[in-house]
Amino acid sequence: MIADDLFDLAPVIPVVVLDDEDAAVPLARALVDGGLPVIEVTLRTPAALAAITRIAAEVPDAVVGAGTVVAPRDAERSAAAGARFLVSPGRTPRLQDAMVATGLPFLPGVATASEVLALLEDGITAMKFFPAEASGGTAFLKSLGGPLPRARFCPTGGVGPGNAAEYLALRNVGCVGGSWLTPADAIRDGDWDRVRALASEAAALRAG
Ligand code: 3PG
Repeated sequence: MIADDLFDLAPVIPVVVLDDEDAAVPLARALVDGGLPVIEVTLRTPAALAAITRIAAEVPDAVVGAGTVVAPRDAERSAAAGARFLVSPGRTPRLQDAMVATGLPFLPGVATASEVLALLEDGITAMKFFPAEASGGTAFLKSLGGPLPRARFCPTGGVGPGNAAEYLALRNVGCVGGSWLTPADAIRDGDWDRVRALASEAAALRAG
């Protein structure tokens, strides 16, 4: 799988914060059942790496990756834990080298035309647009589509049910990411029906 393939698997990548690794498997099952097989577990909690390992081992239909990869060591540890892709909020040459070294597909974060150009120079065409709403939203992506049509984006940050369809309608958007599918209270309460319902609404977002 290359990073561009992630875009074809689902219109939305749930961005998950897990405090309890025991919630990982039922949460992932609910997302997959709702129609969202691609799951980004952020490395923001001590439970994250164990959660990735559990999902990779126990939910075969899930494609689990690591998010909030901000240092070379995060990339290495995520790969060792069983992550199948990596997502970073930004990009530095060292971080990019570490992500490349894992052999995994990755979505490096960009928020300016120059950052997009730097990735295109390296042959990388799939990227995360972060923080999407704060950086110009759909108007920014439309503007980039003219001069830089090869770049394709996963906008994340401020994307939700109210604006996801608008992003997905853009030619240079491959999928969107967001935390709205997995509210903290639903995870805490084990309300997997709610997560499944949110996932299924999101899975229906891609038109055509
Ligand atoms: C991320 O981790 O990529 C974003 O913080 C998710 O942003 P959201 O909470 O606005 O969806």
